[in-house]
Amino acid sequence: MYPEIDSATGIPVGISISQLKNALRQQPVAVLLTEPGYLGTLSDLPLLIEEAHASKVPVVLDAAWGGHFGFHPRLPCHGMQVGADAVITSVHKALPGYSAAALLLARSSLLKVERLQQSFEMTHTTSPSGAALASIDGVRALMQSRGCQLIDQLLKNVALFKERVQSHFSPPIFLNESDFADSRFDPAKLVLRVSQLGACGVELEKDLLQQGISVEMADRDMIVFHATVADSAASFENLADKLIPILKMKQSAPRASAVALTWSISPTQGCSLRDAFFASTEMVAACDAAGCVSADVIAPYPPGVAIVAPGEVLTHQVLAGLREIAAAGVRIAYATDPSLARYRVVSKMSLISQ
Ligand SMILES: Cc1ncc(COP(=O)(O)O)c(C=O)c1O
Repeated sequence: MYPEIDSATGIPVGISISQLKNALRQQPVAVLLTEPGYLGTLSDLPLLIEEAHASKVPVVLDAAWGGHFGFHPRLPCHGMQVGADAVITSVHKALPGYSAAALLLARSSLLKVERLQQSFEMTHTTSPSGAALASIDGVRALMQSRGCQLIDQLLKNVALFKERVQSHFSPPIFLNESDFADSRFDPAKLVLRVSQLGACGVELEKDLLQQGISVEMADRDMIVFHATVADSAASFENLADKLIPILKMKQSAPRASAVALTWSISPTQGCSLRDAFFASTEMVAACDAAGCVSADVIAPYPPGVAIVAPGEVLTHQVLAGLREIAAAGVRIAYATDPSLARYRVVSKMSLISQ
């Protein structure tokens, strides 16, 4: 399924009901959705979940970025509140858990909880980190006792920060709740649309790093800042103090919003992921790679959304898009040759014998 794109901002705003209905016709065992998306937008989840449940298909949410949802009236509901059958969520994004601390929540109407338990037992480490587990408990207790108050402060900090930075510029430079339908955007998310200032996000990231500030993600058109309940009002002020002069220095004519390849790529399958993974492979020069089947997963990171996966064809669109992303200075992850001078592909002999 592919997300709808908001034409004003060029960003994905969730999966439409018609996309889901098409997918359900293929009788899937489950529907997996990433909600919220990396830029803070959400599908109309109650509608999608109701539709999937009408066909007795469970809905599993990758809600890595939604751990704080449901703890404040201004935030979207938690995935479990809107009827998801399983929700996997990090507690180290807007919430202050340790890295690698994450939760799987599930209900048993359409999923077999014993099977989940068996799968967990088969795959989890035999030496879990007590510190990470304790941090999950700590965050859960914190959210139960002071969650609403802490998120309230976070939302105020984010709103004040945006207001202050925005007051120096006339085009709208942040994604705002008012840009989207009700409950379809996380108001704690800080997304700066540097294209509105004609600036390059990757260059701005370098300037910020020199001032001791690291960002969650930067590409040519956007910067995503990571705002958490552990950030003080002073740290937001410090960010605004450093950011405003840098933005002013780099400002030029606004660029039209472009849809990043990450949100718009539609893969062409060359062989199955499994066949590609176990096939014999070879390295080919970028100029000879068009039409070959990738053996690598390749993703600009962050956000780490694959542009190509093993078994998918390296089309001209994929190759040109990756070249452009790398030229803008974004790190290319997982590729055998991250410079993209060469690509690891399924060897022709291997494809013929399949
Ligand atoms: C959509 C999504 N899912 C999963 C993850 C991984 O989560 P964790 O770091 O808790 O393993 C991330 C990390 O950023 C993510 O963006």
